[in-house]
Amino acid sequence: MPDETTTAAYWDRVAEETDFTFPVDYELIEEHLSRDARVLDLGFGYGRIASKLRARGFSRVVGFDPAPSMIKRGRREHPGLDLRPWLGGELPLAADSVEAVLMVGVLSCVIDDAARMDLMDEVSRVLAPGGLLYISDAPIQSTPEYKERYTDALEEKFGQGALKIGDGGVVQHLSVPNFRELTATFTELHWNRAGGESLEGNKLDIIEYLGRL
Ligand SMILES: C[S@@+](CC[C@H](N)C(=O)[O-])C[C@H]1O[C@@H](n2cnc3c(N)ncnc32)[C@H](O)[C@@H]1O
Repeated sequence: MPDETTTAAYWDRVAEETDFTFPVDYELIEEHLSRDARVLDLGFGYGRIASKLRARGFSRVVGFDPAPSMIKRGRREHPGLDLRPWLGGELPLAADSVEAVLMVGVLSCVIDDAARMDLMDEVSRVLAPGGLLYISDAPIQSTPEYKERYTDALEEKFGQGALKIGDGGVVQHLSVPNFRELTATFTELHWNRAGGESLEGNKLDIIEYLGRL
């Protein structure tokens, strides 16, 4: 099973050739968050979401990502955004220092249950009481094609919902009970099943979640 280092290496390798497509409900975020709120875009990729937020008037967005090539592309395509490298573990942010955390397509990149829980603990640490958590990510899919890919990965000792993508990448779609466990300390404000698209262009069922700490 690949560890965190090899998964981050995959995202680093594909940074220049990948365009992320998971949906983001900006209107929903705006309904609950003031424009001067400090926002953390965790796993920002090349800054797709941080740049949209900036264009919509959010002036205090900071992004962290472990893949140096994503940061390089983000800084080139969206100069002036606060995009910083971070290799996991404790975020270089004080406790209670942000009013919102966005994680779009990030939890499914973390293919170890304990690491996912550690990441959520870190999110809760930096998020101020009453802060918002927005997640858009892929749950375990029910189509025969995906079921077959999950089975193939299980045979290689990956966990439930894992599948191989691209050239050496692995993601793990989330089971709903695991998603509930990861967000258990939050009060749910919004839960929606949206239509999305995978990086390979396949239709994907997506969970859009908004919670308050
Ligand atoms: C599918 S991309 C989504 C990027 C961006 N959120 C978007 O939707 O445009 C996932 C991103 O998460 C980053 N990532 C991988 N492992 C991570 C981890 N453990 N913590 C935070 N980010 C991670 C990857 O480098 C990649 O840039």
